[in-house]
Amino acid sequence: MRKELYLIAEGKPVKSIIRNYNQTDFDAMIDVQRDSFPPPYPSELWWNKEQLLEHISRFHAGALCAEVDGRLIGSMTGLLVNLADYSHAHDWNTIADSGYIRNHNPSGDTLYVVDICVIPEYRKSGIGKWLMQSMYETVVHLGLKRLLGGGRMPGYGAKAHEMTPETYLDQVIAGELKDPVISFLLRCGRMPVGVARHYLDDEESNNCAAIMEWRNPFN
Ligand SMILES: CC(C)(COP(=O)(O)OP(=O)(O)OC[C@H]1O[C@@H](n2cnc3c(N)ncnc32)[C@H](O)[C@@H]1OP(=O)(O)O)[C@@H](O)C(=O)NCCC(=O)NCCS
Repeated sequence: MRKELYLIAEGKPVKSIIRNYNQTDFDAMIDVQRDSFPPPYPSELWWNKEQLLEHISRFHAGALCAEVDGRLIGSMTGLLVNLADYSHAHDWNTIADSGYIRNHNPSGDTLYVVDICVIPEYRKSGIGKWLMQSMYETVVHLGLKRLLGGGRMPGYGAKAHEMTPETYLDQVIAGELKDPVISFLLRCGRMPVGVARHYLDDEESNNCAAIMEWRNPFN
């Protein structure tokens, strides 16, 4: 995968490239994680080089990064799984093998998103949506059934004493609340299929995630 496109950053078009990441990108990939997931997000959850090596060796098609002027500004990683092997209430460590993706199944029917992030400077420029679009294209190209992933709900932690994560998600879908990740995923055409209550060690989301799907319209 390699494509060029213009983002609109602060009202101005900026040329960007989306491509597969390689071993020479590993330091820059970790910088992107550090900038994108500041505390209280646990730094142990940022990529390490061993995980990144597994991503590019096991499923290079699912290892995408975005670049502007030679600098990485965002990335997205996935693996293939057979959805029937996992329940809807799965957790991130199980389905993503704690980020090592050694459970990648080349004959799986589902592209599972392990991570997507954009550095704060380039947020709302459209690059997150373009990364997602590029992964949808990969789903179509490989003839898979769907893309699936757990969306963090960083706005839920502050509301956890008032409502269940299911109610929170319903209110975001109803437009009564906005969530920085779930509202983004809705804009990307992802459909909610459930809530996982013990998804990831993630204080801001009270460890919860919305499991959200995009179905291949051709399959
Ligand atoms: C979630 C994230 C990847 C979005 O990336 P982004 O590049 O800012 O998103 P885009 O600019 O492509 O936005 C796409 C759409 O989502 C909307 N959107 C983006 N961030 C949003 C937010 N915080 N609140 C509401 N809507 C948002 C945009 O307005 C845009 O809508 P449009 O298509 O109608 O113009 C980015 O905010 C991020 O890296 N967050 C931290 C890491 C993280 O939590 N990742 C999710 C792991 S599950």
